[in-house]
Amino acid sequence: MEPAAMLCTAAVAGLGLYWFVWVMGSAEQKGKRAVELKMGSISRDKVQDKYRQYWSFFQRPQEISETADKEKVPAFVDTFYNLVTDIYEWGWGQSFHFSPAIPGRSHRDATRIHEERAADLIGAAPGQRILDAGCGVGGPMRAIAAHSRANVVGITINEYQVSRARAHNRKAGLDGLCEVVCGNFLDMPFEDASFDGAYSIEATCHAPKLEDVYAEIFRVLKPGALYVSYEWVTTALYRPDDPEQVEVIQGIERGDALPGLRRQDEIAAIARRVGFEVVREEDLARAPAGPWWARLKMGRLAYWRNHLVIKALSLLGIAPKGVADVHEMLYSTAGHLSRGGETGIFTPMHMILCRKPAA
Ligand SMILES: C[S@@+](CC[C@H](N)C(=O)[O-])C[C@H]1O[C@@H](n2cnc3c(N)ncnc32)[C@H](O)[C@@H]1O
Repeated sequence: MEPAAMLCTAAVAGLGLYWFVWVMGSAEQKGKRAVELKMGSISRDKVQDKYRQYWSFFQRPQEISETADKEKVPAFVDTFYNLVTDIYEWGWGQSFHFSPAIPGRSHRDATRIHEERAADLIGAAPGQRILDAGCGVGGPMRAIAAHSRANVVGITINEYQVSRARAHNRKAGLDGLCEVVCGNFLDMPFEDASFDGAYSIEATCHAPKLEDVYAEIFRVLKPGALYVSYEWVTTALYRPDDPEQVEVIQGIERGDALPGLRRQDEIAAIARRVGFEVVREEDLARAPAGPWWARLKMGRLAYWRNHLVIKALSLLGIAPKGVADVHEMLYSTAGHLSRGGETGIFTPMHMILCRKPAA
């Protein structure tokens, strides 16, 4: 090619890339712009290192809870949420959980209905003080406060999520009902018997020992109060001697900061061990519920568009090094999650409703 033609082609390609990044990078998705993606409180130059440390820590997820490494889990979970919080908000929304698809209803409606169900199960009512253990950026908290008019106090290990949740609460005009605290749900800064109810949505799966987080929630509940949790578990269909299934489950664990998934049939016994009465248990993903993983599958095209935007932003030095790796990891995890859902070996919504016995 002639030098002039090469120059021309390069200029057109450069302009094309600039246009693509400008249009797509500034496109607002669920309240976040691609050019605004931050990696929580991690500074730009540390993103790649932090991602590598995270990835090597979660290589043998099932072994973490059995070794001294379990003490390090909350810090690595914090790193994980620094890396993914903005990407989740950008690509998914303010509620970091799944919900059964409902024919004829939007994802947004299905999400809200799944959250309101938790509030109804524990009988959340105006004036009550309700705990949200592992609150993310507060999507469920705002839906539950608006639905029940209860006061919701959320706790998350990640400081960046606290600032996001508080900003969203103010914007939604719900900061009078919603409060957010940064802390570890394995050792909460709350008085004994100080809550009228509690819930956790797809959060306690991050605890190395489920007993520890259940015991802590039990401690802060008033006698007679209800607690509901949506747990991530393997089902009775999971065969730990089938390498393909093991790859799916380990893929979910590695890509979601999980120190080993629990089995569905273990959950009630754990709740009873810490003193709860088990009121009800149900896998909310079972038929006739619509497939919770359908949204992940539908999002594949959006993923590719987002990935191109992130790659281009990285290339131009706008997004920090390592962001594309994080996005790639989340895409591969989405594949494992869909597979887990389709095969029925995994559910992210095993619901357990417990009561702290009345004194
Ligand atoms: C998948 S997100 C779910 C967030 C929220 N429940 C929702 O559905 O939008 C898991 C949440 O658990 C929190 N988490 C995990 N381990 C924690 C710990 N040890 N203490 C407090 N929060 C924790 C994370 O910070 C994150 O906010």
